[in-house]
Amino acid sequence: MTAVSIRNVWKSYGDQVVLENISLEVAPHAFVSLVGPSGCGKSTFLRMLLSQETPTRGAILVDGAPLAPEPTPDRGVVFQKYSVYPHLTALENVALGLELARSPLLGRLFGARRRAVMEEAAESLEAVGLATARDKYPAQLSGGMQQRLAIAQALIKKPRILLLDEPFGALDPGIRKDIHDLMLDLWWRTRMTVFMVSHDLREAFYLGTRIIAFDRTRTRPEERDAYGATITFDMPLDPSDPVKARIRAAEEAAARGLDLPLSDGGAGRCH
Ligand SMILES: Nc1ncnc2c1ncn2[C@@H]1O[C@H](COP(=O)(O)OP(=O)(O)OP(=O)(O)O)[C@@H](O)[C@H]1O
Ligand SMILES: [Mg+2]
Repeated sequence: MTAVSIRNVWKSYGDQVVLENISLEVAPHAFVSLVGPSGCGKSTFLRMLLSQETPTRGAILVDGAPLAPEPTPDRGVVFQKYSVYPHLTALENVALGLELARSPLLGRLFGARRRAVMEEAAESLEAVGLATARDKYPAQLSGGMQQRLAIAQALIKKPRILLLDEPFGALDPGIRKDIHDLMLDLWWRTRMTVFMVSHDLREAFYLGTRIIAFDRTRTRPEERDAYGATITFDMPLDPSDPVKARIRAAEEAAARGLDLPLSDGGAGRCH
């Protein structure tokens, strides 16, 4: 299980400070829900955890060691937009990541090694409930199924840290419920440490063991570029709470006017 330490991290683009002094100790196997208005640097934060961006200042440690400077298979990611290849079947989509990892030059394996990869890909599809869709192309899958496929793609490399950037934002509520339960099940079984950005407070409370909000505290126009967003809310959530209690907690927090910034809450300060 994997602990993540974020120590005094700042991120600027040119003169614009996006994130300011973010410090966070994340326990092994935590499920961190990250909320905040649009433009507050949530995706930027995930990209730093992936090593697609580097902090301008500060450090990120995984189990006490500095993050690798390049993306590595121990960190998986699922985005809101489908990241699957349209010309490959579900099985081929999932297998591709492993083929590229094991045969970086050709991107293809042959014989027993290819069969082994295909078997692993089939298992990964089964784990997300897509066993019967293995030979279908993405266009033949529903939105929910495509997101399950994206999860299978991320999980086949057995990441220790999973980064989710609004992965369920485009799905209908009924489909979301099933995929939430799948996500919790996978998180328990794999013992991954998860960071999930969400604009849906109920989803954030339902899935998370901890909820973090990013927001700007200085908002005058002349301060816009000079100061970034920082952590304005940090609350542990008891994973053994019954679902209803956790959703109720979300609603009570909102009713008490807690500064839990939501994209549609009017409090949105970042942009
Ligand atoms: N590569 C980049 N170059 C310059 N500015 C960037 C870059 N990436 C992000 N930004 C800026 O950083 C800020 C934060 O962007 P980011 O996408 O991280 O926000 P976010 O919280 O994920 O927003 P949303 O909720 O809309 O997805 C924005 O002002 C954005 O324009
Ligand atoms: Mg974003």
